[in-house]
Amino acid sequence: AKPNALPRDLEGVRVVVSAGGTREPLDPVRFLGNRSSGKQGYALARVAAQRGAEVTLVAAHTAALPDPAGAHVVSVSTAAELQVAMEDAAAEADVVVMAAAVADFRPAERAECKIKKQGDGSAPTVTLTRNPDILAGLAQRRRPGQILVGFAAETGDEHGSVLDHGRIKLKRKGVDLLVLNAVGEGRAFEVDENTGWLLSPSGLEQRIPLGAKSELAATVWDAVAELVRAQGR
Ligand code: CTP
Ligand code: CA
Repeated sequence: AKPNALPRDLEGVRVVVSAGGTREPLDPVRFLGNRSSGKQGYALARVAAQRGAEVTLVAAHTAALPDPAGAHVVSVSTAAELQVAMEDAAAEADVVVMAAAVADFRPAERAECKIKKQGDGSAPTVTLTRNPDILAGLAQRRRPGQILVGFAAETGDEHGSVLDHGRIKLKRKGVDLLVLNAVGEGRAFEVDENTGWLLSPSGLEQRIPLGAKSELAATVWDAVAELVRAQGR
């Protein structure tokens, strides 16, 4: 879409977008984190608001980014906090977009005090435990007609191509749309441009050309708006 020519096709649609990356504390000063900047989620929230949606943005460690105009921003840190905030917001939403990078694992224990080096020169062992799959949980408690959008960042490997992994994840997650990004070689993380495919259970495999994250956002909302229209809303 051209600037100043955005459709108002999300007027009155209530959307929730998660953005950024969770941090899982080891002790009061250390955490396990990831390299998500939040830029893609913020672009999604900004473009949705520009197209008339009522936007809640659940943001995990995105301090460098200005709040998107018109969005209600909820800040969280851990995957557990993100889950609570998303389930809360999703209960009143027509569309839920999980763009955040959620830590798959967290330290099984969070030390009360800063972990000190041991005098004998040994290193501590960190035991990890699984975090809940927030998107799967949202799919389980989905409201009638609620549209769910997931993201996946994949690399090709000996088990299959980026697209092969995306098709499997689309099924496993039970979402209406999956935004599939090819990662590695400096792509997707901490940059302003993004490329990939938009997949749907009906067999849509739309190539998303390399472009600004706001353009990818526009492509996602085009597809969402079509699903909303198909529901006769
Ligand atoms: N996601 C989530 N909760 C998690 C992990 C991921 O809600 N604990 C969401 C992400 O926000 C994203 C989608 O699920 O929208 C896919 O994330 P991804 O990390 O690609 O999927 P995983 O199920 O964690 O699979 P993998 O083992 O490939 O990391
Ligand atoms: Ca993961």
